[in-house]
Amino acid sequence: MHIIFETPRLLLRRFTLDDTGLLLDLNSDPEVLKYLHEPLLTDHNHARQILTDIILPQYEKDLGRWAIHVKDDMRFVGWCGLKYRPEIDEIDLGYRFLKKEWGKGFATEAARQTLDHGLNKLNLDIITGRAHIENTASLHVLEKIGMKYVKDEIIDDCPVKTYTASR
Ligand SMILES: CC(C)(COP(=O)(O)OP(=O)(O)OC[C@H]1O[C@@H](n2cnc3c(N)ncnc32)[C@H](O)[C@@H]1OP(=O)(O)O)[C@@H](O)C(=O)NCCC(=O)NCCS
Repeated sequence: MHIIFETPRLLLRRFTLDDTGLLLDLNSDPEVLKYLHEPLLTDHNHARQILTDIILPQYEKDLGRWAIHVKDDMRFVGWCGLKYRPEIDEIDLGYRFLKKEWGKGFATEAARQTLDHGLNKLNLDIITGRAHIENTASLHVLEKIGMKYVKDEIIDDCPVKTYTASR
């Protein structure tokens, strides 16, 4: 297992091609994707394609979306991580959790340490975070981890609030 880091309650590791089932559980829930510009996942082949085309290539630059497990029982709860978006030349902080795990502070705990990892271990100059203007929980997480509000804008046809953090 390629572990990225641990927090008091969580362990973050790289996804592998064996994780199609975990990704399918997460991305087949319409409530999880409510504010995201993505199609629902319906089968393992599609999940495998997301892993090979989107998630695994990011690891070549030490960035990426990392699978999150609760250390107590090692259950999978979601992902968090840093993704390079070449079309806008930005490194984006993102997170996504199974609905049954919302409201336990996991997103805040994972995102805070991911930000620290990006700025202080990977020495990134600036990290961007974005959430749909109605995604209150996600906006709350960005604010709680100390990211600074920059502006409202339209990205991928969605109204979002943009935040940044710098070294
Ligand atoms: C957004 C998401 C990651 C939050 O995960 P989480 O583990 O529940 O987040 P946390 O528990 O760390 O913190 C959420 C905060 O928002 C608050 N919150 C949650 N829903 C809220 C709402 N509807 N209105 C106001 N505040 C809300 C919580 O009270 C909490 O703040 P607190 O700790 O001060 O009480 C989770 O809802 C999710 O996975 N959503 C689907 C995917 C997604 O939208 N990802 C973000 C894309 S930008």
